[in-house]
Amino acid sequence: MPAILAIESSCDETSAAVCVDGKILSNYIANQTVHEQYGGVVPELASRAHMQNIVPVVDAAMKTANIELSTIDAIAFTQAPGLIGSLLVGGQFAKSLALSLNKPLIAVHHMQAHVLANLINDPKPSFPFLCLTVSGGHTQIVLCDSPTSMKVIGETIDDAAGEAFDKSAKILGLPYPGGPLIDKYAKEGDPKRFKFPEPKIEGLNFSFSGLKTSILYFLQNAGKSNLFKAEFTATEEEKKEFIENNLADICASIQYRIVTILLNKLKKASLETGIKDICIAGGVSANSGLRTAFEETGKELGWNTFIPAFEYCTDNAGMIAITGYYKYLEGKFAELTVSSTARAEW
Ligand code: KG4
Ligand code: ZN
Repeated sequence: MPAILAIESSCDETSAAVCVDGKILSNYIANQTVHEQYGGVVPELASRAHMQNIVPVVDAAMKTANIELSTIDAIAFTQAPGLIGSLLVGGQFAKSLALSLNKPLIAVHHMQAHVLANLINDPKPSFPFLCLTVSGGHTQIVLCDSPTSMKVIGETIDDAAGEAFDKSAKILGLPYPGGPLIDKYAKEGDPKRFKFPEPKIEGLNFSFSGLKTSILYFLQNAGKSNLFKAEFTATEEEKKEFIENNLADICASIQYRIVTILLNKLKKASLETGIKDICIAGGVSANSGLRTAFEETGKELGWNTFIPAFEYCTDNAGMIAITGYYKYLEGKFAELTVSSTARAEW
């Protein structure tokens, strides 16, 4: 019955969770609103906010789980990848706790944890399964053979899907992070009204940088042309008016394109590997258009589809805790000298 305390601090969410025998008893997340005014995460401010949040967040997670620090069997933490200053705060905290409690330390790969968020609730996928991991920094198709053995079989060659959402939103004048807002406005819009082009990328890799360019040209034409290249030069006023009058349809059309790019590659991966247990994970898996289209595609193609509960999609320590649990079972512990790194091998 191992009890794991887990800490996540890779980007702008400070989170702590407690997992006992593979069940998540608590999962606390402190969001950092300080970045909104800057239109993106400011690393220095993120580190400082983690320093302020980490003790109360860990305290809250322990209280909700109704467990004492003395009964914890191991401390798991996000070791990589992420913002180095942010990772260091959680990493040092976890190490100090492990040292003072004399308990083992478990280093967790943030992207592997996003994949394993699918093992938190029932029903769970069977091994081997495929996972489309889509977040603000990553877009990957992962082949997962066991909780501690997985490999990336496709990934973005430029922007991540979350970045594509956020950059598109920024062009439309929406605040950061714009992904959830595009999702919100898209619900009222016609996804087929504006046909943004699909990039032609070989194999299982993705590309999203062309989408940003086509949106810029599209707005430059302000509805006077349906072609996604520069034909007119609308004034800022004209662009603004066009966006205001067509926001729902523009958001729905952008979302439709991002979702079809993702699902077309996932279909290809399933066909090539013969695997039909398929998951999605990461912040963008909170997108309602992606969730619906994923379920529909699954029904059509006979997949067993899995999506983590909403609170385990965006960054959270619950997914670090479940990964820590499986590593604990295999005795995969880290030395106290382990260092946090911004990038990580799989
Ligand atoms: O996994 P995550 O919380 O953090 C990273 O590790 O990056 O993902 C954050 C990303 C952001 O780009 C955010 O805009 C996007 O997930 N996101 C969404 C939605 N909710 C979060 N994108 C589209 N629709 C949503 N509902
Ligand atoms: Zn993440």
